[in-house]
Amino acid sequence: MRLRRIFAAGAGTALIGALALALTAGGTRSVAADQSAATAAPALEENPAPARQSWSFYGPFGKFDRAQLQRGYQVYHEVCSNCHSMKLVAFRDLASSSGPAFSEDQVKALAATFKVKDGPNEAGDMFERPGRPSDYFPSPFPNPQAARAALGAAPPDMSVLAKARDIERGFPLFIVDAFTQYQEEGVDYIYALLNGYSKADNPNYNEYFPGHRIAMPPPLSDGVVDYTDGSPKTVPQYAKDVSAFLMWAAEPKLEARKSLGFAVIIYLVIFASLLYLVKKRIWAKVGPH
Ligand code: HEC
Repeated sequence: MRLRRIFAAGAGTALIGALALALTAGGTRSVAADQSAATAAPALEENPAPARQSWSFYGPFGKFDRAQLQRGYQVYHEVCSNCHSMKLVAFRDLASSSGPAFSEDQVKALAATFKVKDGPNEAGDMFERPGRPSDYFPSPFPNPQAARAALGAAPPDMSVLAKARDIERGFPLFIVDAFTQYQEEGVDYIYALLNGYSKADNPNYNEYFPGHRIAMPPPLSDGVVDYTDGSPKTVPQYAKDVSAFLMWAAEPKLEARKSLGFAVIIYLVIFASLLYLVKKRIWAKVGPH
């Protein structure tokens, strides 16, 4: 009996030792990677980390703010959609009750403001017509090459941009993030980027863009979008609203995911307590001697 206990203790120590080794090995590897990154691309090192914003959809009970999503859509429609497509999002998605929750008539009207390519018609020609709710947000350019020729770089599609732009948080922050539930790196980055044109004499300088030279000139300026709900018509407010809208576009099922996740955790806690009680009951007759 005693031998077995000693053996178990030894195995436990060995396991902890191995874990500690693995952790330190991971640490040295990431330091080495940091150093090679520093020599390869010094410009990337200069990017400040985007500040964390407070979002209504943060945390396990996070929910989208409908009014904010509607304002964000207005900014996307009036400004960003002149250059950026959103090919995975259909107009009818805007009626979703866990999204901007526009009415069906509103969706019909706003779809019709976009021109969509259709065809071929009887004569075999492609033609343009006003959008319908079942259409997807079109690209303002016929192809990425045309966009590049016009702007110097192709504007990325916005369907999943808020999730695709991730800030490298590295060890140990990504472990901390798992506990603090920080999943808003992408939106924080977009918000920072839109507010990051810090040199008035250089419209292509952006503090947060890797390398600082961005082909997109500052898309927002105070008063450019006419809000009707009394929200401030300022760049930070536009940036906040459109970033939230892009988060919804990238993850339309966010609310369902969070409430399901919460239910699963509750279930697991109850299940674990039951298992503990059962274990106590089964082992009750086996005394310590
Ligand atoms: C005049 C055209 C134009 C408008 C309007 C525009 N963009 Fe862009 N955007 C671009 C181009 C071009 C790029 C690619 C920049 C590059 O790669 O240098 C880009 C890139 C981006 C990126 C990606 C940056 C990265 O990390 O790769 C984001 C985010 C972005 N735009 C957001 C917006 C938002 C939000 C709006 C509306 C408020 C908007 N853009 C309006 C042209 C535009």
